[in-house]
Amino acid sequence: MNAKNTDFGTFAQDVMLGLNSNPKTLPSKYFYDAKGDKLFQQIMALPEYYLTRKEYEILEGQHRQILAEIVSLQKPFNLVELGAGDGMKTKILLRYLTDRKIEFTYYPVDFSGSVLVELEESLAEEFPTLEVHPIQDTYRDSLKKQVWEDGKPNLILFMGANLGNFGVEEAKNIIDHLRVGTKKGDLVLIGFDLKKDPQTILNAYHDEQGVTREFNLNLLDRINRELDADFDRDSFVHWPIYNPVSGECRSYLVSQKAQTVTIGALNQTFYFEAFESIFTEISKKYSLSEISHLAALGGFEVMGNFVDSEGYFADVLWVKK
Ligand code: AVJ
Repeated sequence: MNAKNTDFGTFAQDVMLGLNSNPKTLPSKYFYDAKGDKLFQQIMALPEYYLTRKEYEILEGQHRQILAEIVSLQKPFNLVELGAGDGMKTKILLRYLTDRKIEFTYYPVDFSGSVLVELEESLAEEFPTLEVHPIQDTYRDSLKKQVWEDGKPNLILFMGANLGNFGVEEAKNIIDHLRVGTKKGDLVLIGFDLKKDPQTILNAYHDEQGVTREFNLNLLDRINRELDADFDRDSFVHWPIYNPVSGECRSYLVSQKAQTVTIGALNQTFYFEAFESIFTEISKKYSLSEISHLAALGGFEVMGNFVDSEGYFADVLWVKK
């Protein structure tokens, strides 16, 4: 595995661009270093964070229907997963397929190298015969390179509401990469967190134990660690807001005082006014009609919307026309 994407260069450059912007921003993909991966696993177990449990319920209850299309082809295929993470939910699908001796190759793609190493180890233990090709890359770059493309049908998983980490225009751009990165007949399964009671959504990003706060602040810790910076993490407040019109849940870190921060690796000092914020993450919530619109944009036909019992989350299956 190469470490290109965690290169000092890219991270430093993105931090420099983000903190020189007005308003200040930092890209959420940098949450996921070894510490951030651990914190995100804690988030998934939080009582307020319903997303993972809801998607798990969908996969547990409906995996047979979800996989019916690709299985009915009765030929070997590629299972590509964008943002594989710890593979907890994917293992439901892997179990079903391997138990039936269905032939496929698994390509987990993740930006975090540490999460891929752990995934590979746990898969080797639980699925010793499974062929696994981990890819450390971003969604877009992996879709451009399509190292999995060998003429076989592809089922591309993009679960976990990971697409929600992009604003509308960027999400459309990712869908366009999916359009270009797939061929006729390829299938795509995308997980979307759905619009619901705003309080339920806000609570998922403002948990009582403060794990999400730690997760957000880890971005500053990581800059301190890797880019020789002196962020005073305790002077920043974790502040998520949810807009029920746009469906955007946005997280910020708000400086509680006027202060300067020096980033050694950038040779630069950044000034924060009192109560100036850094925008760190977007988690967009969708309606089913917005989702169908996205499908059409990408040249996909909706084959099925798989929703949990409360209508909180949807895994949607699309086929490339
Ligand atoms: C991994 C992008 C789905 O946006 O809900 C969880 C990340 N951020 N708590 C999300 C996250 C704060 C998560 N995704």
